[in-house]
Amino acid sequence: MKFFVDTADLDEIRDLAATGLVDGVTTNPSLIAKSGRNMLDAIAEICDVVPGPVSAEVTATDVDGMLAEADVLASVAANVAIKVPLTPDGLKTCKALRDRDIMVNVTLCFSAAQAILAAKAGATFISPFVGRLDDLGQRGLDLIEDIVEIYDAYPDFNTEVLVASIRGPAHVVEAARVGAHVSTLPPGVLRQLYQHPLTDKGLSAFLKDWEATGQSIIEQAEQRKDAAE
Ligand code: G3P
Repeated sequence: MKFFVDTADLDEIRDLAATGLVDGVTTNPSLIAKSGRNMLDAIAEICDVVPGPVSAEVTATDVDGMLAEADVLASVAANVAIKVPLTPDGLKTCKALRDRDIMVNVTLCFSAAQAILAAKAGATFISPFVGRLDDLGQRGLDLIEDIVEIYDAYPDFNTEVLVASIRGPAHVVEAARVGAHVSTLPPGVLRQLYQHPLTDKGLSAFLKDWEATGQSIIEQAEQRKDAAE
């Protein structure tokens, strides 16, 4: 499973990219607004830090407007994926961009029917929002399972399922269990994935026992090297 980070905060992206586990970034107009940055500058800087797909979302709602914005966004860097909403105009835009081999992430997907349309429009990624469905009392992960099953049944669908609106590690684990291709993680959720109280407890017990021996691996290596000389 690929991990994207769902943020436009460059410091967070730099910090998480250093883990070596970040395959891409997703942004949206709300995340750009939250960063307080100019969109084109923010996208250019993110694309420098992360070589994988960086989603930048159009804000026009008609095909001509979306295509004009997509041209600007795509010219920022070769790894920009244009994010379009799951509307009739969004999918026409998707098709036109895919014909030009530009990556497209179709966002705001809330049903399997919408996901089928996006795959037919040639989307590179479909972004179903699990957390927002959970908020309505519907199990968001059921949608992921449905989309993965449907896409798997049609080898000519090359769209990757990018699980969005993730709220915690359980979403990531369940999405991986059903074979979703990508999870886009808020930075806090990516950090949470490392955590388990038994890891911390086990490590402090190991370190305590080790400290009591007074040994040092590095010192022992130096002693062996000295003895061999
Ligand atoms: O990038 C889209 C997405 O992940 C939104 O998440 O938390 O605003 O529902 P959220």
